[in-house]
Amino acid sequence: MTITVQRLGETFVAAVEGLDAADPMDEATWAAFYDAYLEHQVLVLRDQPLTARQFHDFGARFGSIEPHTVEMYHHEEFPGITILSNRVELGRPKGIRDAGSEWHSDYSYKATAANATMLHALEIPDVGGDTYFADMAAAYEVMPAELKARVEERKVRQQYRWTRDRTHPENRWNLLSEAERDLTPEVVHPLVRTHPEVDRKGLFVTPALTSGNKEVIGLDEAAGMALLDEVFEHATQPRFQFRHQWRTGDLVLWDNRTLMHHATTDILPPEKHRTLHRINTQGSVPY
Ligand code: SIN
Repeated sequence: MTITVQRLGETFVAAVEGLDAADPMDEATWAAFYDAYLEHQVLVLRDQPLTARQFHDFGARFGSIEPHTVEMYHHEEFPGITILSNRVELGRPKGIRDAGSEWHSDYSYKATAANATMLHALEIPDVGGDTYFADMAAAYEVMPAELKARVEERKVRQQYRWTRDRTHPENRWNLLSEAERDLTPEVVHPLVRTHPEVDRKGLFVTPALTSGNKEVIGLDEAAGMALLDEVFEHATQPRFQFRHQWRTGDLVLWDNRTLMHHATTDILPPEKHRTLHRINTQGSVPY
């Protein structure tokens, strides 16, 4: 199998053609595909009519699949697949309506953050529901030297869905079961991490509620939050971003280790139905 890879964004994102993700990949094809993944960070494959099993098998090539923290959204047959959907069936949500419309990096609230995320689009509305990506290695590289010096050795204490406002409707305390809370204790991560495979540095802190930034270690609350605001303002500039407009059958995968992404399902009208399957694979402890 020969694949072709074409860069779509300025510093990252590529389209891959010539690959049927339902077929097993020989070692040479897999090596070329994985190299493209490391180089471009986001890969887009169009027209992939996969069954859940085929998607699951494809995901498993990237390592151990890590099911989502919230069990009610697991696929019945393949719990490693999370269902994202704004459909309601028999009065129950079919999946997570909004898997993150604020900038985030998957599982950054865990001690071992995610490596790859893959989304397979089953149902896409005629407009809306795009996903945005931001290249955190590119953002770090061109960060002003003075700000770089202030973030270089910093660490952030965080916890899944933690907010200062305990009454916030998305606050973790309101949403998680006792068992799920036990699975998401506080973690401390570096604000700048090194990609373990390509040895490239990137910003690794995100403004999303799911990331629950509690404290920048060594700074008081006001100074810590001011520093994070400065970092987020720099990191979310349009020049580091790419917008993916979905089509049914798309398979998009990305490397969370030097990226942030966000959905736009918070503004998707309820009659615009959007359903995707998602897989996350286990990464390593950020350093
Ligand atoms: C996600 O944040 O994992 C999902 C992105 C999306 O639904 O567009």
